[in-house]
Amino acid sequence: MSASDTWSASFTTSTVEAMTAYDAVVPFMFAPWAEALLDEVGVALGETVLDVATGPGTVARLVATRLGTSGLVTACDLSPAMLAVATAKADLDGAAPITYLKCPADALDVSDAAFDVVLCQQGLQFFPDRHAALAEMRRAMKPAGRLGVNVWCGIEQCPPFEALSIALGIVLGPDTQLAYRSGPWGLSGRGELTRLFEGAGFTNVRVERRTLPIVFEGGPAQLVATLPTASVAPQVAALEKKGRDDLLAATTKTLASLLHDGAVRSEMAAHVVRATR
Ligand SMILES: C[S@@+](CC[C@H](N)C(=O)[O-])C[C@H]1O[C@@H](n2cnc3c(N)ncnc32)[C@H](O)[C@@H]1O
Repeated sequence: MSASDTWSASFTTSTVEAMTAYDAVVPFMFAPWAEALLDEVGVALGETVLDVATGPGTVARLVATRLGTSGLVTACDLSPAMLAVATAKADLDGAAPITYLKCPADALDVSDAAFDVVLCQQGLQFFPDRHAALAEMRRAMKPAGRLGVNVWCGIEQCPPFEALSIALGIVLGPDTQLAYRSGPWGLSGRGELTRLFEGAGFTNVRVERRTLPIVFEGGPAQLVATLPTASVAPQVAALEKKGRDDLLAATTKTLASLLHDGAVRSEMAAHVVRATR
């Protein structure tokens, strides 16, 4: 099984408790990227939008507020637990209604040519068949439809997570470190992205690198707290107290240059891909 397959499977089989924990520690990182993605793609009142790999609904909920009540949002994900977290959230006043669907990205349960805009934030790198997933997104778009996708650049361009991965290597070994790095940061080449999107038939493909600041006010412990939602969660969960203490100590050490008054201050880099059908 490849690293992306393992991560995809870990989302798919995860429990509602684990994904509720994910919702508490991860979406604050994704919300500014969702704003940036919507600014790049642009959405107009009343449009129809599909959010692929919606997770806890971060992009879907934001775009729903931008579309207003005359818009429509469909949000899909493979993970029943993620969808349970998303659907448990309160309805948003003055926003487009959101319909949640359980389906894999490479077999979207939506009609042909139904959407003005298709979005996918930090999902493509996890899909076992990325080409098929992009072909499905294209199928779902209206003839003049717009696509917006983002994926992290290499982990070395996301320094807090590079530091965390090095700490994982120190405590749990190189295989765990590699498994961790290869999931979220496993589709980082600009050329590879361009080829993927053009190969799936998209036109006007533009891949741009963007950075946004990130602050972990809770310091190294806050970063370590993201691990139970990662594919390496079982290895981390198997650590005894000494191993957990060693992991926090190693993370504190590898993060040293980013620590300011107890908080981790850095930036994250992602490729934002825009295309038309
Ligand atoms: C890092 S999360 C991003 C979630 C969301 N887009 C956001 O911005 O918060 C990745 C999501 O991809 C979903 N996913 C992974 N593999 C998938 C697949 N093959 N088809 C559909 N969704 C998948 C996971 O369940 C998870 O919700």
